[in-house]
Amino acid sequence: MKVLVVGSGAREHALVTALRKDGCDVTCAPGNAGINADVTTYPLDPSDGAAVAALAQRIGVDLIVIGPEAPLVAGVADAVREGGIACFGPSAQAAQLEGSKAFAKEVMLAAGVPTARPAVCVTIDDVKRALDDFGAPYVVKDDGLAAGKGVVVTDDRAQAVAHARACLDGGSRVVIEEYLDGPEVSLFAITDGTTVVPLQPAHDFKRVGDGDTGPNTGGMGAYSPLPWAPADLVQRTLDTVLQPTVDEMRRRGSPFSGLLYAGLALTSKGLRVVEFNARFGDPETQVVLARLNSPLVDLLMGSATGALADVAAPRWSDDAAVTVVVASEGYPEKPVTGDPIVGLAEANAVPHAYVLHAGTKPGDKGPVSAGGRVLSVVGTGPMLTDARAAAYAAVERICLRGSHHRGDIALSAAGAESGRIGG
Ligand code: AMP
Ligand code: GLY
Repeated sequence: MKVLVVGSGAREHALVTALRKDGCDVTCAPGNAGINADVTTYPLDPSDGAAVAALAQRIGVDLIVIGPEAPLVAGVADAVREGGIACFGPSAQAAQLEGSKAFAKEVMLAAGVPTARPAVCVTIDDVKRALDDFGAPYVVKDDGLAAGKGVVVTDDRAQAVAHARACLDGGSRVVIEEYLDGPEVSLFAITDGTTVVPLQPAHDFKRVGDGDTGPNTGGMGAYSPLPWAPADLVQRTLDTVLQPTVDEMRRRGSPFSGLLYAGLALTSKGLRVVEFNARFGDPETQVVLARLNSPLVDLLMGSATGALADVAAPRWSDDAAVTVVVASEGYPEKPVTGDPIVGLAEANAVPHAYVLHAGTKPGDKGPVSAGGRVLSVVGTGPMLTDARAAAYAAVERICLRGSHHRGDIALSAAGAESGRIGG
């Protein structure tokens, strides 16, 4: 089977790696230095639907897998399907579950899915009223896509107002919502618009600094499984969040097929949805796919062709997986790029560890940094402690001037897992 993966991050490198393991003939556009070393890549604007469809026709692929949200919201999946090619990823209309936080709230309300109470604001006076109504801590969200950086959670009312003003000035609506306490879980599900197949939960570290300090980022690391999560979490999320949302989207005439990402908070009042995304999460995908022991391609093709009910349930390794993101100097505010990355072979030589590329491109003497999140280093092992040790041993072998990473990925979970037996 010939598969074209669209995108250029560590998520796409993980997808390419998993699909190759399944025996697929994989290509990628545009890819990065790491993906380029593994498979053929094609330069291309991933949000240009006509260009993606034309490339797929030219090289003759059986399936296109769209990684990032921007092409989905821009309608690339629609363009590809019009060209008669099977596509993993939702239509532009269905991708509004991620593309508009206000739309996602409306769907959740209609489907009875538990989420933070929202107020959608179009003027700064609406914003101020909503902030005072909800009280601190304040949660202020840009309605549109913002690469994980459109959300401010703060006790400082002036900062909340300033962020809202910046979003409104940028032409977006602003969503103010109830603050959700409790640990966060990312749970992905593959769906064809009717059947919903949940994957394994993961935890993402969104803040840039150790101890969850500093600004939000796209994600600085992740681990799976979650030794602290309730045993029925996946089933409960399927029953109360994922299936009702997929059913509601179908009822509206805009069925959602592809990957539905539920960002959950396990609050003192019960499970709540923090956000939906319309694609695989990054960096959670790196750890979820590291634990997948059955063919990814069957799930993706089942979703793309509406035949997911006929695909065998995924099987999972009992092993744990941890990924640590190596970010460039200045990320997330002002990433510095163009620096050589040294030590990749040494890092890949660490047992039970491997390096996935994110923002990298080929340079004269090897890969150079080309984005904020540069690498996603994965470690695996019987316990989170082992997976952590492997990932960090590999990170220590990498040299990138000015780079930074968190030192506490999976640290507290590893400390609490001693009672865990198997998966
Ligand atoms: P989002 O882009 O909606 O996922 O938000 C990014 C991050 O902001 C989330 O992962 C949470 O850590 C935080 N966040 C978003 N909404 C809330 C909320 N209602 N209460 C507390 N934290 C939130
Ligand atoms: N890791 C968060 C996201 O992919 O949105």
